[in-house]
Amino acid sequence: MASAVALDRARIRELTEREERRLDERTPVSAKLFGRARQTLSGGVASSYQLHDPWPIYLSHGRGQFVWDVDGNRYRDFHNAFGSMVQGHAHPAISHAVTERLREGTHFAAPTEDAVVVAEELARRFGLPKWRYCNSGSEATMDAIRIARGLTGRDTVVKIFGSYHGHHDGVMVSIGVEYDAIGDPEELAPLAYGAGIPQAVIDLTVPVPFNDADAMERRIERLDAEDRLPACVIMEAAMMNLGVVLPEPGYLEAVREITRRHGIVLIFDEVKTGLAIAAGGATEHFGVTPDLVTLAKTLGGGLPTAAIGGTEEAMSAVEDGRVYQVGTFNGNPLVTAAARASLLEVLTADAYEHLDRLNRRLLDGCTAVIERHGLPGYAVGIGAKGCVTFSPERIVDYASFKAHQDVEATELAWVYNMNRGIFMTPGREEEWTLSVAHTEEDVDAYVAVFEEMAADLTRAV
Ligand SMILES: Cc1ncc(COP(=O)(O)O)c(C=O)c1O
Repeated sequence: MASAVALDRARIRELTEREERRLDERTPVSAKLFGRARQTLSGGVASSYQLHDPWPIYLSHGRGQFVWDVDGNRYRDFHNAFGSMVQGHAHPAISHAVTERLREGTHFAAPTEDAVVVAEELARRFGLPKWRYCNSGSEATMDAIRIARGLTGRDTVVKIFGSYHGHHDGVMVSIGVEYDAIGDPEELAPLAYGAGIPQAVIDLTVPVPFNDADAMERRIERLDAEDRLPACVIMEAAMMNLGVVLPEPGYLEAVREITRRHGIVLIFDEVKTGLAIAAGGATEHFGVTPDLVTLAKTLGGGLPTAAIGGTEEAMSAVEDGRVYQVGTFNGNPLVTAAARASLLEVLTADAYEHLDRLNRRLLDGCTAVIERHGLPGYAVGIGAKGCVTFSPERIVDYASFKAHQDVEATELAWVYNMNRGIFMTPGREEEWTLSVAHTEEDVDAYVAVFEEMAADLTRAV
């Protein structure tokens, strides 16, 4: 990174315009479907995170490490449904389990054996004895926060500035904002993420910077002095919504110690990291055990499900009836059949070795390209996940992300990939996710496209 060249801004814009034109030309059927979709689907999409100008790329199907769009373009999938499909698409073991379950009835709103088997396996992997299910990452973080509040009898929630924990009111706070709106690092501001969130709820959520345990403790002490000691700290152990930002050595241990000392429930939101970076997620990878863990995405092998795991003490609030952790579709038999097959037959110890090896090759390949071309940036990742962060400085928290990440280069990389058969997660906050179906050839193809872009970017014109 030391000898990085400054990127030519005009060249980035010129390449982006060229590549955007190309993508438009390659996707006329998506354009047509968008015209139809927007008549009835708001914005032509099922979730605002699927929006894309001038139109979204509509997919038709996926197999293994590949997806196809409605124009028939085939892509190697590095988006993998925002990191949900570590199993690859249409995995035979999961398809088989779901097909079998379909024949036996798909929903009873009564417990089944698969729900027990999955809980047993999650308990083994995460070292947390008690589990419950829900249906999305947002539900998992919502319920985990409620459990923490029920346990402690307190209202305040501490979160990391810039972290995304789903779309319920209490966590749609201090996510994507302009750099100068962040506020003083010691007193970061609770800011609404979009309209429709009551100010009274926003005020209960207090953001602190990532990778700064001392700042967290000082904020907790001030809150305590104001008679607002937090119920919980909710955080990703490794941030996966600013690209990938790893915890500095000792940070997670310090957070664990601070929360324990102050009697605050520590929640690791492992919706992205859990089951994707290691068998037991960040909890296993970093060796720090929180009081509660939330899982979703990878858990269902492509079906919508989520889980909350906890210590005996944390989950006692559910078991003794203080907190109602409920839901008609919780532990639905179809999704638990998929989760069981995924955990026991697909995401095995060998699978994690495969993911680690491929990711190492991908990260090393990208690092070599960066060094060869003197690009301002670095490759970072763990397990199935990683990214190239275009930034002259290492990013450690939201403030450094906002100040240094090169948005234009990140956007160019996305469209450049799309035109060369790499389906990549859109958005400057996202990262790649590998699946067990990916091969060396797939990661080498990614590196080759990155090499082509780097040469294009740094070429004298
Ligand atoms: C860390 C984290 N937590 C929670 C969520 C919310 O999950 P869902 O979209 O399933 O509600 C997400 C979604 O991206 C996430 O990345």
